[in-house]
Amino acid sequence: MPQHSFRLNGKPVTVDCPGDVRLLWVLRDLLGVTGPKYGCGLDVCKACTCHINGKAFNPCSVQVSDIKDTDEITTIEGLPATVGKDLHPMQEAWLDYDVAQCGYCQPGQIMAAVAKVRQARAEGHEIGDADLDEIRNICRCGTYHRIREAIVSAAKNM
Ligand code: FES
Ligand code: FES
Repeated sequence: MPQHSFRLNGKPVTVDCPGDVRLLWVLRDLLGVTGPKYGCGLDVCKACTCHINGKAFNPCSVQVSDIKDTDEITTIEGLPATVGKDLHPMQEAWLDYDVAQCGYCQPGQIMAAVAKVRQARAEGHEIGDADLDEIRNICRCGTYHRIREAIVSAAKNM
């Protein structure tokens, strides 16, 4: 079986599997990293959102053979370490605003939120309504209002 190597939450990992296995199943089933959730498997619901080299992406739609050994994949499990704390400011805001209901979509929401704040900064502005409107993560519990408030609050501490 071919081997595939990449960096996951700051550490090198290698898996043995066919190259067309999509990364979400590699993370969850082969590496036991279950923060990224399976919702649709079609790059639609965004429940699986993680970061690749700091940018949001959806591992349900990427084959493991498309990941380079220098690519850094960050899941919700590795997010706090990116700021050297027990919780990332986005996670702190999530608690302050009591965002979660069932929780299923929430790891993906937080990862999408962090990436969107970074993207806005890279474009030279702070996150605003237009940026928030671009986040397409689905929450069937309808926590969208609290998500938006938490993101704006967290951005001040990032
Ligand atoms: S499971 Fe990845 S976008 Fe839905
Ligand atoms: S909190 Fe239940 S799906 Fe979002």
